[in-house]
Amino acid sequence: MTKTIRVGVPGASHDVVIGYDILQYLPRALRRVGVGPTIGVVTDSTVARTWLGPLRRALEASGHSVIPVVLRPGERRKTLQTVGSVCGRLLRAGVGRDGCILALGGGVIGDLAGFVAATYQRGIPVVQVPTTLLAQVDSALGGKVGVNHALGKNMIGAFHQPTLVWSDTACLRTLPRRELIGGLGEVVKYGIISDRRLFEWLESNLDRVFALSAAGLRFVVERSASIKARVVAADEREHGLRVILNHGHTVGHALEAAAGYGRLRHGEAVLLGMRIEAQIAAWMGLLSEEHRRRIVGLIDRVPVAAPRLSLARVLGHMGRDKKNRRGVMRFVLATAIGRVQVVERVDPALIADAIRASVRTRG
Ligand SMILES: NC(=O)c1ccc[n+]([C@@H]2O[C@H](COP(=O)([O-])OP(=O)(O)OC[C@H]3O[C@@H](n4cnc5c(N)ncnc54)[C@H](O)[C@@H]3O)[C@@H](O)[C@H]2O)c1
Ligand SMILES: [Zn+2]
Repeated sequence: MTKTIRVGVPGASHDVVIGYDILQYLPRALRRVGVGPTIGVVTDSTVARTWLGPLRRALEASGHSVIPVVLRPGERRKTLQTVGSVCGRLLRAGVGRDGCILALGGGVIGDLAGFVAATYQRGIPVVQVPTTLLAQVDSALGGKVGVNHALGKNMIGAFHQPTLVWSDTACLRTLPRRELIGGLGEVVKYGIISDRRLFEWLESNLDRVFALSAAGLRFVVERSASIKARVVAADEREHGLRVILNHGHTVGHALEAAAGYGRLRHGEAVLLGMRIEAQIAAWMGLLSEEHRRRIVGLIDRVPVAAPRLSLARVLGHMGRDKKNRRGVMRFVLATAIGRVQVVERVDPALIADAIRASVRTRG
């Protein structure tokens, strides 16, 4: 049993297929979307240990020729240098314009392999097979691909919509707990920005996600992916609606950067960011005390160990956020569970107080 979500981006509509233990059915779906016989499978060594074998066997059994490209795991590999070496592998293997890239892994692999696909021989199709919760609910959808530069994260990239997204929730069973929490941050976000039912489901069933229940994982991935698909279809290039996906991120990105990248996982920072932004919204009279309490209550049930942070550094990073418009900080604040509003002018003293109320600070 699978669920299919159609992402209606103009000129690049495609399906997101979600199901439990569905890797073996991927070749049939590839035939349907007309993917050529040669597939460069980009993955990392951790994911490859469990999931490359079954995928490769399924592809080869149906007549595909597979070129595996196994990278070392981690954000540090998401660079132009790695793009160059992946392209080298594909060129030496003779992958032509009728070939395709399959990204098997988390967001690092998806962003990197997607960027290779966007640029290799001026662009070949990419199939996203996300294996982390974050990738299944967020990064594999939307077509944003790219790599980091020494001067900033995701500074080099492109929009390249996948030909197909194949989310096998069985892959999440080998995911370390901290990675699961990273993805949960975005799931909670979807509940707050537009899905009160998802939020309420999480309030009653959070333990089912932690227990990796098959039905629980499917539910959160389906609901979350539907929301992201809808937002992306309405605003592929981030000119309007897509901004709501930044809920929790104005503060979250700053916490992540101030902690030093890697010390606080992105999703953990977003959880804290949403907690702080709920406080800001409540103090501004936009969010009722009852809804603030529920948002904070749910977030506090997800264990996040935040290091002590310099308040000045957090505020400094917020001022430099690349999502700011003409130097004005933009917040996407909850006005109720399931609803958000973009707010541009927020009293800096309020921001500082809200941060102090949620994380240990110095300075
Ligand atoms: N393109 C977008 O729209 C978008 C959105 C959000 C985040 N991102 C990017 O996503 C990246 C983060 O993604 P991530 O959190 O998935 O990190 P990741 O890709 O680094 O994966 C996290 C870790 O989990 C391991 N792993 C992956 N799948 C596994 C599995 N099934 N079982 C066991 N281990 C597994 C990986 O080897 C890695 O060590 C960042 O680079 C971020 O910039 C992109
Ligand atoms: Zn995020």
